[in-house]
Amino acid sequence: MDRDERICQEGGLNLSNLFPTYARWEVEPEKAEGSYLFDKSGKRYLDFTSGIGVCNLGHRPAAVQKSINEQLNKFWHVSNLFIQDQQETAAKALSEAAGMDLVFFANSGAEANEAAIKLARKASGREKIITFQQSFHGRTFATMAATGQDKIKNGYGSMLETFKYVPFNDLNALKDEMDSETAAVMLEIVQGEGGIHIGDQEFLAETEKLCKEYGALLIVDEIQTGIGRTGKAFAFQHFGLAPDIVTAAKGLGSGLPIGAVVGKKNIRRSVWTRKPWINIWRKPDQHFCCYCYNEDNIS
Ligand SMILES: Cc1ncc(COP(=O)(O)O)c(C=O)c1O
Repeated sequence: MDRDERICQEGGLNLSNLFPTYARWEVEPEKAEGSYLFDKSGKRYLDFTSGIGVCNLGHRPAAVQKSINEQLNKFWHVSNLFIQDQQETAAKALSEAAGMDLVFFANSGAEANEAAIKLARKASGREKIITFQQSFHGRTFATMAATGQDKIKNGYGSMLETFKYVPFNDLNALKDEMDSETAAVMLEIVQGEGGIHIGDQEFLAETEKLCKEYGALLIVDEIQTGIGRTGKAFAFQHFGLAPDIVTAAKGLGSGLPIGAVVGKKNIRRSVWTRKPWINIWRKPDQHFCCYCYNEDNIS
C-alpha cells in the first residue's frame, strides 16, 4: 500500500476531523524559520516545499513579521467599504511591478483567476476562453473548467463549456481555435502542475499578436511564477510580453491568504463595440468580496 492509499484508509494519518484531501508527510512542524522547519523533537528539516510555492521569502521573514505585528495592533479587518492606506500602497506597488494600473484583491489564486475570467467575459461581451492542455488554474468551478487536465475535474459533473483547450506551445492549434468569439487566451508562462513546460518565446509573442488581431484579451496566470519566483517580478517579463490581465497569489502574501487581479486601465480593441474596460468594473457590485483583503495580509 503506498502512502496515499494509506492516508485515505487512515483518514489523513489519523487527523480524523480533516477530509483526507491532502497527501501528508509524517512530519509535524512546531516552528518554522527561514528555509527550515522544526518538529516537536527539535529535528530540523530543509523545507523545499516553501508552503507549495507560497513562502517566497522563507518562513516568518523579519520585515514581514514586523509589519504584520504593527498592523495587528491597529486593526485586522474593516472591509473594502473603507479607504485603507496599505491597500493603496500595495496596489500601486503591484501595478508598477507588472507595468499595469489597477488591482482587485482576492483571497487565493483560484479566486483571482475566477475574477479574471469574469472580467474578460464582461469586458469583451464574449464567452469563449482558450486555455492549454496540462494547464492548471484552480479548483473553483470556473477555474477547474479552465484547467486543461481531466484528473482535476473527474467526478464533479458538467463543467462550463466555454473553455477550449489547445496543446501548449502549438501555434497552429491556437490559430485554428482563435476566432471573433474569443474573449481571452489564458496561459501560464511556465506550466507547473502537468510537468514543467516553459512557453516558447515565439509562441508567446505570436499568442499576444493573435489576441490583438482577434480582439481577445491575454490573461497570464502568474500565481505560481509571479512575485519574483523566476528572477523578475513576473515571468511574462522575461519574454517582453504585455498581457492585458495578470493574476497573482501565493508569494504575494508570504504565507497569508491573498490573491490579486492586475489589469491595465484602458484596453482598446478596435473590434470591440464596448467601451474601454476601465468602465467595466467601475460601478460597485460588478465584482465583490467581503473578506478579501485584510490589512495584515498585505502588511
Ligand atoms: C498556476 C496556478 N494557478 C492557480 C492556482 C490556484 O491557486 P490557489 O491554490 O491559491 O487557489 C495555482 C495553485 O497551485 C497555480 O499554480
